[in-house]
Amino acid sequence: METVLTIDGPSGAGKGTVSRLIAGELGWNYLDSGAIYRALALEITEKDIEHGSIEGIVEAALAMDLRFECGEERAVLLNGNDITDLLALESTGNTASKIAAIPEIRAALLQKQHDFLQAPGLVADGRDMGTVVFPDAKFKVFLTASAEERAQRRYKQLKLKGIDANLAAITADIQERDQRDSERQISPLVPAVDAVYIDSSAMSIQDVVKEVLSLVR
Ligand code: DC
Repeated sequence: METVLTIDGPSGAGKGTVSRLIAGELGWNYLDSGAIYRALALEITEKDIEHGSIEGIVEAALAMDLRFECGEERAVLLNGNDITDLLALESTGNTASKIAAIPEIRAALLQKQHDFLQAPGLVADGRDMGTVVFPDAKFKVFLTASAEERAQRRYKQLKLKGIDANLAAITADIQERDQRDSERQISPLVPAVDAVYIDSSAMSIQDVVKEVLSLVR
């Protein structure tokens, strides 16, 4: 069985950057499960499927052709179209968080996530990787940071990408999303009982990577 390292935590905790660096370092595959929820959010917006139409969303989830290309720059293709930039929008994350609270939709996306489990190993980044999607993972991390710190990081990230951003709006957004992701009935954002808890508020990315790598090695 391939080795799995799960990295769960709230949005903006640095999971994506840390997971990518660790996957690169170990030569393992990388699953960005949030991108799958985000891609589905874009798909239903594009196809004008109502947020309340669970059946329609499940159908779209099963039918979407989603590809992750790992070249020099990571690209995500949805039905052949490059959606990399659209994935990063706050509005996409918000819709993703809303549809992610629906059990049927989570179930429909499970197989797509399990498909990433290939030799030699997998770094799985999300909210329920260690609790639901890969409960038997050998290594589990719960990575978090204060809401203020996460908002600052998200703000800088968006600015760097040339996307217009407002810190107060991002902070409010992050708090709203945290609450929705943590309080939902199904697969809420909670640390797995066997996860190592890391608060990265006062840590650099390199420090976090070092700490996680020391667990695995
Ligand atoms: O990690 P992210 O910000 O890209 O995720 C976007 C939303 O998708 C997040 O607010 C909740 C949902 N999500 C989830 O419910 N479960 C996951 N494993 C990953 C993301």
